[in-house]
Amino acid sequence: MAMAGDPLSPRLRTTLFGLEFSNPVIAASGTFGYGVEMAPIVPLHKLGGFVVKGLSREPIRGNPPPRLWETRGGMINSVGLQNVGVRAFVRDKLPLLRGCGTRVIANVFGYEVQDYVEVIRVLEDAGGVDAYELNVSCPNTKHGGMFFSSDPRLLAEVTREAVRAAKRPVIVKLSPNVARINEVARAAEESGAAAVSLVNTFLGLAIDARTRRPRLGAGYGGVSGPAIKPLALRLVREAALAVKIPVIGLGGILTGEDAAEFLIAGASAVEVGTATMADPQAPVRIAAELDDFLREQGVERVPALVGTLEWPS
Ligand code: SIN
Repeated sequence: MAMAGDPLSPRLRTTLFGLEFSNPVIAASGTFGYGVEMAPIVPLHKLGGFVVKGLSREPIRGNPPPRLWETRGGMINSVGLQNVGVRAFVRDKLPLLRGCGTRVIANVFGYEVQDYVEVIRVLEDAGGVDAYELNVSCPNTKHGGMFFSSDPRLLAEVTREAVRAAKRPVIVKLSPNVARINEVARAAEESGAAAVSLVNTFLGLAIDARTRRPRLGAGYGGVSGPAIKPLALRLVREAALAVKIPVIGLGGILTGEDAAEFLIAGASAVEVGTATMADPQAPVRIAAELDDFLREQGVERVPALVGTLEWPS
């Protein structure tokens, strides 16, 4: 009988931008709350890490409901970055995360460059966060978000200023809604990013044919889940070919073998989002399945699988 995989197996250990991770499977922002809510139901120490909900300078109420609609093979959301604001996070949530046994990454959102800088300053003063993920790719706001990662010059500016304010590594989360992902990824790298993560959601539209209205209160939304996996894999491969910094891959990962596909495409780690909405334990299960896969394939260590795609000649 095959042995069950272990999310804490030594095979899964990896180092990214100078930080050790017990495994390369990270719960994605927006699907894991502030981490605090998940602690009673998910063994946090068995995660590679988690990314807290996008944090802004001031609280954000988010978009009008409905904010989420299940699609074939995934979902579409227009949450609109509802969050308590960085100061309330530091006061009420962060103290509860100390000693949680895994990497805590803060997702940072802003409308202007200065907003990102201010959120990072507040988090720097507080401590307790291992890295930042700049959300320059949310499709659900009228300002900031996706607009930053649509233009390499804007992306470079926000990344440079964030890196200057941060003592910890800055990951830049990229949008798939761009023509040339290689240029955007390179702009992040040249501006000091420690890693890029991709993909955020694809801008989409769900329609109720009977009412002839959008399914979401905000109209458009971001599409995620297994339906986008092949699209995400292509973009992850192209980004990984364009930069030397680590790439964190995400987009429709449901199983350990899905995670392996992203590593083979060139990602050094993965994030799991939509699967976590259905089952908060999904990232732990996926890490265990990835361990199974590595053992079955005779791969001793995660980095040995990264970027091993054999392209047809
Ligand atoms: C949202 O809150 O609208 C989703 C976050 C994102 O897509 O970055």
